[in-house]
Amino acid sequence: MAYRVIIPAAGQGKRMGAGKNKLLLTLNDVPVLIHTLKVFEEDGKCEGIVLSINPQDEKEFRFLIQKHEIKKVTAIVPGGAERQHSVYNGLKALSDNGIVLVHDAARPFIDIETIHRLTDMAEETGAAIVAVPVKDTIKKVQCNTVTETVERSSLWAVQTPQAFRISLLLEAHRKAEAEGFIGTDDASLVERLGYKVTVTKGSYDNIKLTTPEDLFFAEAILRKKQYMERKG
Ligand code: CTP
Ligand code: MG
Repeated sequence: MAYRVIIPAAGQGKRMGAGKNKLLLTLNDVPVLIHTLKVFEEDGKCEGIVLSINPQDEKEFRFLIQKHEIKKVTAIVPGGAERQHSVYNGLKALSDNGIVLVHDAARPFIDIETIHRLTDMAEETGAAIVAVPVKDTIKKVQCNTVTETVERSSLWAVQTPQAFRISLLLEAHRKAEAEGFIGTDDASLVERLGYKVTVTKGSYDNIKLTTPEDLFFAEAILRKKQYMERKG
């Protein structure tokens, strides 16, 4: 199923503490932003990329996109104060039909098989997300004291990409804005409409680079990918 993708890249990377947007940090000499864009550049089913950026990064991002020959970026829009605003601005740059993916620029290890499974599911159900079952036992804690152990079998850690019919995601964002609701992902805005969101299992490698130790995990995941490619 053909799709377009909105890539929010307008954060500041505060928790990474790199003194600049974490998407400019490199893995194997290539910026994180470019690792992520390349996945979609190389996917024949991706028909366009809308990138939400902080205007202060615009010059550098445009330079990198050109240098690494990324051709599918059809629009660069300004991000907003929250990730949700950055996605909404991207959404406004798209025409109102087909399937749209939203994928964090800070998740460079997304694989094409997962993307295709997700887009096929969204085509059928209207709204689909990628998630993995949590491995740890999760407890609720208040004032250093356990208040509840949550039944683990029903807990999933949600990632991006998330895929939607464009008209549905637009309606969800419009409603959230009108009601002043800020969610931590796009699916939660769709859930508020009472719409069912379906889930496909992703990979534990699809990490979001958030804090400095994630860079060490990222190096390890890259090495694993290269090893797998050599092995064929
Ligand atoms: N993002 C965005 N607009 C914002 C905030 C975040 O487009 N106002 C993007 C980030 O660039 C990132 C993705 O949303 O690709 C996920 O956000 P997160 O991991 O929280 O990145 P940052 O907001 O940059 O990091 P931090 O929260 O540590 O400052
Ligand atoms: Mg953030």
